[in-house]
Amino acid sequence: MNTVSDKTSAIRGLYRLSIEERQKKLQEFADLTEDDMSVLEKFGSLDASTADRMIENVVGTFPFPLGIATNFQINGRDFLVPMALEEPSVVAAASNAARMTRQTGGFSASTTDPVMIGQIQVADIPHLDKAEKSITEQKENLLKVANAQDPVLVKFGGGARDLQVRRLDTIMGPMIVVHIFVDARDAMGANAVNTMCEALAPLLEELTKGKVYLRILSNLAEHRLARATATFPAKELGGSKAVDGILKAYAFAQADPYRCATHNKGIMNGVDAVLLATGQDFRAVEAGAHTYAATREGGYQSLTRYEKTPSGDLQGSIELPLAVGLVGGATRTHPVARLCVKILGVKTANELAEIIASVGLAQNLAALRALSQEGIQTGHMKLHSRNVAIAAGAIGDEVDTIAQKMIAEKRVRFDRAQEILAELRKD
Ligand code: MEV
Repeated sequence: MNTVSDKTSAIRGLYRLSIEERQKKLQEFADLTEDDMSVLEKFGSLDASTADRMIENVVGTFPFPLGIATNFQINGRDFLVPMALEEPSVVAAASNAARMTRQTGGFSASTTDPVMIGQIQVADIPHLDKAEKSITEQKENLLKVANAQDPVLVKFGGGARDLQVRRLDTIMGPMIVVHIFVDARDAMGANAVNTMCEALAPLLEELTKGKVYLRILSNLAEHRLARATATFPAKELGGSKAVDGILKAYAFAQADPYRCATHNKGIMNGVDAVLLATGQDFRAVEAGAHTYAATREGGYQSLTRYEKTPSGDLQGSIELPLAVGLVGGATRTHPVARLCVKILGVKTANELAEIIASVGLAQNLAALRALSQEGIQTGHMKLHSRNVAIAAGAIGDEVDTIAQKMIAEKRVRFDRAQEILAELRKD
């Protein structure tokens, strides 16, 4: 039955309260029990006061499993790669694919300069040609003003490098969009770029006699690319039929956006997990990766490429925009993210991007290999069945006992886990 509640979510000034006071308000609103509250009150490595400074209206933290992918050898150096995610099989799959590349030298990875794009939208321009000419003539001065916003970035060899004037015909009439190209060095770059865009706005209004609306970074970071390649030996993959199976799976993705979305999602399983572990803006990378996949060659395409080598092995490569940073943001404030960066031993954002690209390629190869052979459910079910057992209330040894029984019966279901648990406890 639907009852009208007198509870309101319009809580004024929640942000001004302490975490405990917020928790209390939440408890009242959502009728949380003392057991529920103890879940919320448990803080781990991300302590309450740090969390409270990271976002607004904090009531707790949200832990994820942190796994370590093994076997990664990238540009001749070995890495243990921290991955934060909730999905079973991903860490094992990445580790397995990375193992296969070791005898062929591992991954070769590279990056472009870490150049981000900032966009300034100018509308209501009386004379587009004149406006474009004025901006172009003032290019050097505009870049100087942009760079004056961030002397530290300039000192470290970064800063605004170039500027481009684009014309857009929109449903609200013609507009000029100015792109600034900013080398963000070891920062993700959003703050530096947005500040520069905002600083240029009044000058651009003067030059164009128009009105500036948006001043913001583009997540289509198509000039900040990371690439990785690796050779996967046919005998590791299961022979030449297995290589052909993977090539067929790749061809399917290239021919069909319905498949390609899932194919690229598999890549992002690995990419996002390392991004999350190292405190990166994974939404930014997701947005950039899929838009790049859609615009690079017209239709939506795979972020990876595969071909057979003359000796019959499989050569894989990946290219995607990877706007990651080591300075600023959660990478510095989140203690676990800081630790994960230390585990990786990377000193530059580009090194981190090279690892992430390699993990994305490994993840994709592992998925295509499994999908074109036995399917992913066999491997998936082992961990999935354990999760189902835990969700049904199993603890300690009960988890594996129930999981194994459900797999043997080929019935991995919550209700079955509950039944087996009840039987076990009766015994
Ligand atoms: C599941 O999270 C990812 C896969 O669906 C990727 C793929 O289909 O390539 C297995």
